[in-house]
Amino acid sequence: MVREITSVSSFRTGLPGPSRNSRRSCSRRLPFVLVAATLLFALVVLVRQSSTEQAARSAADLEGADQELLKVLVRTKEALEDQTDWRDIAAYADRAKVLMDLDEFGTTLNDTYANLNASTQALYSRSVQHHHQSLLQEIYPYINKSPQIPRTLAGLRSTWKIPRGIIIPCGNDQFIYAVHLIATLKHVHNTDLPIHVVYAGSDDLIPEKRAALRSIHPSVETVDILNHFDEQHVGIHGGGWAIKSFAILASPFAEVIIADADAIFVQNPEVMFDDPGYNRTGTLFFRDREIFPGWGQVHEWWHDVMKGREPSAQMAASRWWSDQASREEMESGVVVFDKRRTSVVYGLLYTGWLNTRMVREAVTYENTYGDKESFWMAFELVGLPYHLDGEYAGIIGQLTHPDTKAHSIDTFIQSDHLFHRDHRGRPLWWNGSLFQEKRVKDRGYLIATHWSPGTVDWNCDTEPWSMRVDMRDVRSLHDDANFTRVLTDMIGAAVFWEGRFPRLLERHYATDSTDRG
Ligand SMILES: *[C@@H]1O[C@H](CO)[C@@H](O)[C@H](O)[C@H]1NC(C)=O
Ligand SMILES: *[C@@H]1O[C@H](CO)[C@@H](O)[C@H](O)[C@H]1NC(C)=O
Ligand SMILES: *[C@@H]1O[C@H](CO)[C@@H](O)[C@H](O)[C@H]1NC(C)=O
Ligand SMILES: *[C@@H]1O[C@H](CO)[C@@H](O)[C@H](O)[C@H]1NC(C)=O
Ligand SMILES: *[C@@H]1O[C@H](CO)[C@@H](O)[C@H](O)[C@H]1NC(C)=O
Repeated sequence: MVREITSVSSFRTGLPGPSRNSRRSCSRRLPFVLVAATLLFALVVLVRQSSTEQAARSAADLEGADQELLKVLVRTKEALEDQTDWRDIAAYADRAKVLMDLDEFGTTLNDTYANLNASTQALYSRSVQHHHQSLLQEIYPYINKSPQIPRTLAGLRSTWKIPRGIIIPCGNDQFIYAVHLIATLKHVHNTDLPIHVVYAGSDDLIPEKRAALRSIHPSVETVDILNHFDEQHVGIHGGGWAIKSFAILASPFAEVIIADADAIFVQNPEVMFDDPGYNRTGTLFFRDREIFPGWGQVHEWWHDVMKGREPSAQMAASRWWSDQASREEMESGVVVFDKRRTSVVYGLLYTGWLNTRMVREAVTYENTYGDKESFWMAFELVGLPYHLDGEYAGIIGQLTHPDTKAHSIDTFIQSDHLFHRDHRGRPLWWNGSLFQEKRVKDRGYLIATHWSPGTVDWNCDTEPWSMRVDMRDVRSLHDDANFTRVLTDMIGAAVFWEGRFPRLLERHYATDSTDRG
């Protein structure tokens, strides 16, 4: 302290002598000057010290970023050069994971290594983007518009601008179901969500039918997705199951519900966005009915695919994995995705690949029924979270006793319609159209009297199949005025809108339609 006083006073020697007044004020100011000087000194020391600390931090970040970049680039090189047969879909999923690692490194680089200077950050970012694009083109060339018009993933993601919507794949043969589905969604459940009806090529859904579907509500659009992706790879001309995964990726909706034309909702489907499983994972899948237990073929194949991999908690807990309780696991009539999530985007890219012509014909559809299982299997193999609704599909229809000849007192519900509830346990949707029987339309609309949540007990000798029900689980529409009103309103809307397009519907009543799934 003493030394500093001396130095401050020596600093003043030689200056012109202040007036009496100011001399007094000066001596009053002296302590402040001292404090300021002390602070200044401390600051200089601190800045010097922190600039060396800053340099050390920059060097550490450079070292860290270098090492991480090197690691991920080595993996990228291996993935690019991997010669494993693509029929080994698990090995392919491992290559696909590297794409995610690159993305992860690139998006977190600036935050993780905040002490890198901007030019180094930009350099590393560009390097990651370059390698990401090379690997993307190597493993998922189907996402290009054509070989001449390549896409980047960022470019594709930037087209997902509409927050939420519903897509309905529909070809000529599904027209009547799409009329029912759209009329009930828009005029009974009053959903605000825009609807895109998706088809593949002008002949897949003729212009008159497109115009008819659009006339049901102003928020309905029809979209041709043929040549949205490289047709050489996706092979969706003329429709078929495979169109679904590509329609999801192509859709401008960020959060998307995809519903088969023959799905029927009994409440506004927006409720699915509130499902806790969807909130957690960005996906919502529904289970199929539990049939053909112990039918080993598909399980053997899947266990083989999963060899050496740790099953996710979701799959480990499934009856499908542990005791082959059902041949089918998922029904894909309604699927929900949140494409804002990176994990969902990468899961969907791999799902799409499983549905490309080459892969589906050699592997996917060879082992499972159509696209159904490809969704959860893709997320499982790439190691991403997904949510399969807990309960197996239930049923909706009328109570019968098909075993009366055998003097059985068991009660069944015999119906084509798999039935699903929402996360609060309320009726949500069923599969198989608004008709009593999809293939026998002159039996009229489904006049449901009862529904039941899923049980194991299916009788597959009857046509349609029937589920043996426990009356304690069965719900009667007789006791549910709300459900009865909704069903009545839905049939009313269907009759009304069918009346608008008699010429377009003639053929649908005249012939059986082929089943798209
Ligand atoms: C940024 O950091 C790198 C690596 O430490 C260095 O070579 C480069 O000169 C720096 N650039 C600027 C503009 O400071
Ligand atoms: C990181 O910073 C660099 C330089 O500022 C920039 O070029 C790059 O786009 C940034 N990356 C991300 C993911 O924001
Ligand atoms: C009745 O049905 C409507 C859908 O039409 C639904 O929004 C509502 O929650 C239902 N009410 C009850 C009590 O289930
Ligand atoms: C999940 O639910 C919470 C609570 O309702 C909500 O705030 C959040 O936005 C939801 N997250 C997503 C991704 O939908
Ligand atoms: C719809 O339900 C039928 C049973 O009626 C089932 O076989 C089929 O797999 C379901 N559709 C889809 C797309 O899962």
